[in-house]
Amino acid sequence: MAEPKTADLMDKIVSLCKRRGFIFQSSEIYGGINGFWDYGPMGVELRKNIRDCWWNDMVRRRDDVVGLESSIIMHPKVWEASGHVGGFTDPMVDCKVSKQRFRADQIFFAAIVVDGATVGYVTVLESERIAEELQEKAESFKRKKAIQGKLEPVQPRDFTEAKSEQIPLIPSPATGEPGSLTPPRAFNMMFETHVGALSDDSAVAYLRPETAQGMFVDFKAILDTGRVKIPFGIAQIGKSFRNEITPRNFIFRSREFEQMEMEYFISDDDDWAKWHRYWIDWCRDWLVSVGIPASALSEYNHPKEKLAFYSKGTTDLMFKYPFGVQELWGIAARGDYDLTQHGKASGQPMEYFDDVKKKRYVPHVIEPAVGVDRILLAILCSAYCEDQAPDDKGKMETRIVLKLHPRIAPIKVAVFPLLKNKPELVKKAQEVRDLLRPYMTVFYDEAGAIGRRYRRQDEAGTPFGLTIDFDTLGEKGPDLADTVTLRERDTMKQERVKIADLVNLLLPKVR
Ligand code: GAP
Repeated sequence: MAEPKTADLMDKIVSLCKRRGFIFQSSEIYGGINGFWDYGPMGVELRKNIRDCWWNDMVRRRDDVVGLESSIIMHPKVWEASGHVGGFTDPMVDCKVSKQRFRADQIFFAAIVVDGATVGYVTVLESERIAEELQEKAESFKRKKAIQGKLEPVQPRDFTEAKSEQIPLIPSPATGEPGSLTPPRAFNMMFETHVGALSDDSAVAYLRPETAQGMFVDFKAILDTGRVKIPFGIAQIGKSFRNEITPRNFIFRSREFEQMEMEYFISDDDDWAKWHRYWIDWCRDWLVSVGIPASALSEYNHPKEKLAFYSKGTTDLMFKYPFGVQELWGIAARGDYDLTQHGKASGQPMEYFDDVKKKRYVPHVIEPAVGVDRILLAILCSAYCEDQAPDDKGKMETRIVLKLHPRIAPIKVAVFPLLKNKPELVKKAQEVRDLLRPYMTVFYDEAGAIGRRYRRQDEAGTPFGLTIDFDTLGEKGPDLADTVTLRERDTMKQERVKIADLVNLLLPKVR
């Protein structure tokens, strides 16, 4: 089990990701670019394994879901019909003094009320302790200004709720002084580009902010393949782009990220709540199957008054990240909104003829939508552990280990010859590597003391290590010849295993 998490867990994870080649800041040699990340040798394998697991479970192992890979740049009318051109905005606030930019719904303020009168305002940025921090700031304000009387408990509001007469009085989170925050204004998060040689308005196009619209726009084309019947789903994995005002928390909120979305089409009179529940449970079980503990997950039901007018219900699966409980996977019941919109805008009705119900209708949809990067971060947070283990001289030291589920670990097994200057050991170890390689990712390492080699693999999350020693060569007699030491990452237990049994032993554990 993972060790208790510390407040600086995020720093430790970011540092491990860099050290072991999981994730780097994009364009770091030029000072980096905010909201963009590169995945190194370990990171790409981990991402690929997450994607493959999802694709296998969501598409290949089901009869009712088919795959799609639509283009990233689509006709601009797609984004008009979907509502993104008009409404895919976040409320943005500028601090005129510091030139910093904030999302209005991430600034929280409260009036400082003493004996029933407002004597000032306090501000904090979104955190786990919004009310407590505001209260502390209000008390400190009252103390510093030597104001007498009874301070009332603060009533936190986000900046979108600020009245126009309050805005000049609310301190900027950047400077702590009032008077520099602008009123919130809508900022469209789609990245614009131009298609073709001209760069005038007629050539404007967008990098997609979600993969979902591909499934709606290609709905008819997929129906015409004749492979699908309601209820059925279309799934896609691909990059999405959002010009986030405040990308933050490592890869949690980026400007370029990858989504895994599935649109599940049901009949117009189907029990949408039943399907909604089905997909929430499916998503939760899937997260557990890749190593996220159920105890770190919770559900958040969006309140009715905050739902889009067409939405029947949205539930987010939340994960307890070190920086707070945050959305991991959204499961939305979107009614027939998207297909109806594209039907109207394109002039091609997105209808389905149901030959069981003998009627024609626009299907309704349940949409589980998740980001690969958010899952990857949740997996890293769940897997990070520190324990005590003996070094090569038997002295106890702190061991950092990523307890990744073998299904998604970037490297499944590491192969070590005990010594690199003994050609017989090296030859045997390379034979073992080549034996396993067709079945799983293998890392061969002959550099350094064996304990250090184990530690490097513990940090990379490799679940199994194999050591080839003199016993393997038969130096202690025929019983141990052609056996190796198999070390298990989490328990550090070691056992002697025949080389001939390795594939059958390891394969079920890593698939
Ligand atoms: N088609 C619906 C849709 O895109 P969303 O809640 O905006 O819904 C779905 O996004 C999922 O995509 C989120 O739950 C999250 O996992 C991921 N996601 C959204 N914005 C992201 C960002 N800026 N960086 C990383 N992942 C993001």
